[in-house]
Amino acid sequence: MKRVDDFRLRLGKHELVPIMIGGMGVDISSADLAVEAARLGGVGHISDAMINTVSDRRYDTKHVKEKLAFYKYNVKNEDKSSVKFDLGRLAEATKLHVEATMTRKRGDGMILINCMEKLTMNAPKETLKVRMEAAMDAGIDGITLAAGLHLGSFALIEAHPRFRDVQLGIIVSSVRALQLFLKKSSRTGRLPDYIVVEGPLAGGHLGFGMDWAQYDLATIVAEVIQFLKNEHLDIPVIPAGGIFTGSDATAFLESGAAAVQVATRFTVSEECGLPADAKQEYFKASEDDIEVNQISPTGYPMRMIKSSPGIGDGIRPNCEAYGYLLDANGKCAYVTSFNRELAAHPGARKISVMDKTCLCTHMRNFDIWTCGHLTYRLKDTTRKAADGSYQLLTAEHIFKDYQFSTEQKIALPE
Ligand SMILES: Cc1cc2nc3c(=O)[nH]c(=O)nc-3n(C[C@H](O)[C@H](O)[C@H](O)COP(=O)(O)O)c2cc1C
Repeated sequence: MKRVDDFRLRLGKHELVPIMIGGMGVDISSADLAVEAARLGGVGHISDAMINTVSDRRYDTKHVKEKLAFYKYNVKNEDKSSVKFDLGRLAEATKLHVEATMTRKRGDGMILINCMEKLTMNAPKETLKVRMEAAMDAGIDGITLAAGLHLGSFALIEAHPRFRDVQLGIIVSSVRALQLFLKKSSRTGRLPDYIVVEGPLAGGHLGFGMDWAQYDLATIVAEVIQFLKNEHLDIPVIPAGGIFTGSDATAFLESGAAAVQVATRFTVSEECGLPADAKQEYFKASEDDIEVNQISPTGYPMRMIKSSPGIGDGIRPNCEAYGYLLDANGKCAYVTSFNRELAAHPGARKISVMDKTCLCTHMRNFDIWTCGHLTYRLKDTTRKAADGSYQLLTAEHIFKDYQFSTEQKIALPE
């Protein structure tokens, strides 16, 4: 009987254990987690979501405080179009995070950075270019372009000296999205080095509408593999979303996938960036506690635990401090919803905003508990203590369980 360890993923010069830990913003897929994945011979991701904020927390910079001080005059203004990111600071924050992570890298694996293109930052192209170039300057092994798949992203960095040596991957949820991307980026003469195919059971934002339940990862993966074959393109295909056991992963590898991307099982690892109490919420969640809703201002459906403290919270938008979701015109759907509720409840001390959330603030504070569909199975992957708490797992334990387990078995910790 085959297991994941019978397969290898080839990316550039690397031969890897075909397990990729997916990017999880904001700093949920921490450097600690990525470094472990690489040490074990697989692929880890850090994320560049809210990188200035992450830099302040991890490396003692003061980007957020200073940005807020600079734009303080605008806090009560509905118009956020003047609130811009300083590109020099953005580059500095990205470099700090990438360098600090890459310096710690050991072993034969790789560390990539997940760049969410939906973080439009009130200047989508300029900021994305800076984020990607700074990551390459700082020695990242590769970049995974996620959520929003800006079709011109490769062209933004084609003049960079590492454009042809860095691994560049994309995340798609349909053959159509892949076709569009290949067509648009063909001008750069550069194909993606890997394609993550993310299905409807993944965590974070979904590349599907609210009819996500009608789609099936295995079907989409088969379509993508067939399309690449027809086009005579040899690009590794990496399924993601709901791959919970080593046997689930092996089934994909046996049907032509080059690796798998997984995330949910690592949300309860010691190395994961979520706070300890949030990890217990992930363990405790039942299937009914998890929903896909439309409160993300990005416009993409997002999966989360229903009791996330950020849901319904009507805080004042924090664009002057954060502002990662401001679009090219300085607009964010939460700002619109907040102002509508404010006008409807004049004089109220506290308002509630149900249709959208201030995602920057709540992801920063770990108050939106985004998760994969199979989060409700996490409790079966560990032991429960007498006080009702669940034992955290090491990333190594989870990684090796994926790598070596067979027959749908999940190894419990010592
Ligand atoms: C907590 C959490 C946060 C996530 N955040 C991101 C993200 O910022 N960007 C992204 O491209 N994918 C994100 N994802 C998706 C994962 O990278 C991955 O593709 C997917 O969750 C894999 O499915 P699984 O969680 O069922 O293993 C996130 C997933 C989780 C569980």
